[in-house]
Amino acid sequence: MSLRGIPDWVDYLVRSGLHAPSADNSQPWRFVWDGHSLELFMHEERGKDGLGADHPANLMALGAVVENLSQAAGALGMPADALQTGDPTGTGCMARVVWDAAGLQPLGALPAGVQQRHTNRGPFATTALDPELLAAVAALQEAPVRVVIVTERQQRERWSALVRKASELRFQTEEIHRWLAGSLRFTPEEVARGDGLDVATLLLPPGGESLLRLSLDWRRMELLNRFGGCKLFAMLEAAMLKNCAALVVLTGPPAGFGVEVAAGRLLQRVWIALNEEGVAVHPYFVLPDQLYRLRRGRVAPEFVHEVRRIEAGVGELLASRNETVLMLLRVGVPRVADPARSRRLPLARSFSTLVSH
Ligand SMILES: Cc1cc2nc3c(=O)[nH]c(=O)nc-3n(C[C@H](O)[C@H](O)[C@H](O)COP(=O)(O)O)c2cc1C
Repeated sequence: MSLRGIPDWVDYLVRSGLHAPSADNSQPWRFVWDGHSLELFMHEERGKDGLGADHPANLMALGAVVENLSQAAGALGMPADALQTGDPTGTGCMARVVWDAAGLQPLGALPAGVQQRHTNRGPFATTALDPELLAAVAALQEAPVRVVIVTERQQRERWSALVRKASELRFQTEEIHRWLAGSLRFTPEEVARGDGLDVATLLLPPGGESLLRLSLDWRRMELLNRFGGCKLFAMLEAAMLKNCAALVVLTGPPAGFGVEVAAGRLLQRVWIALNEEGVAVHPYFVLPDQLYRLRRGRVAPEFVHEVRRIEAGVGELLASRNETVLMLLRVGVPRVADPARSRRLPLARSFSTLVSH
């Protein structure tokens, strides 16, 4: 479906924006064209009523959209000030593009990096990556967020141990479990809706899908946990984290205006840069999520001590008290080069126009 009656550049920008990643493919964004400017907001149901308006995962997804808009604007030759970010008027508008289309070139394909970036949850080769590429990625930044690359084996094991602990807690947290259960898509009809996590994109080992289905019911998960289910699942998740060439850590202050949006922009830039060189990326949000929950008082009392220990472990690894992990990525040359890709909702679910035709 194309955006009929809408300027071509608006169509181009919206389509680029929609390629952004989001937690469990929840797509917490919406675009509005008012005939003069294209504006980006958080979606009421999929964003604000979903994980929440100030949840870092939602804000990072919106940051990734902003980055896509910026790259698409660059490809169209727009002046740098055509894209304004932030919300000076307090209307919730997170980015605005105003352009008179002066000098608009005939539109080609969307920027290749934006279009081809994707999540790869399969195994990766552990062979070292090109040092020049790693140096270029390490140099990327979006203040106050920066990139730390971890290649050394012992350091990777320490990160993996923290992910394992965070993951054990996640499988014992009803709220997170229900959210995942609601996101999974098993049948072709469910997948065709265009949101959520198509189980084919999880690249599960044989028997994995049945185990996943079995654990979806919270009461059953609770029962499995009594026999060490959470420990088993966490072990599998953390073991996969070792299956890579390097970890990429996005780090910055734990809170502050615009930190998560900046993290989302940087995440997208790093992800595109790696995918363009044939290096696969698999995000692990479980660790930042537990730390966010701790800051917000959302960790169950019996687990607070454990999450504080995880927080201290992250502080040690980053050698900083003022910074935390905002995102962790497993990266490497993929063994499954072209995995199943997540879909997107139909355009009309994310875009509206205030202009009548
Ligand atoms: C903030 C954020 C957190 C994410 N966390 C995870 C994660 O913990 N595990 C995972 O496998 N994928 C994670 N993803 C990847 C999304 O599931 C993925 O972007 C989405 O399904 C769309 O697929 P695509 O990236 O292939 O376009 C995360 C993405 C974002 C933006």
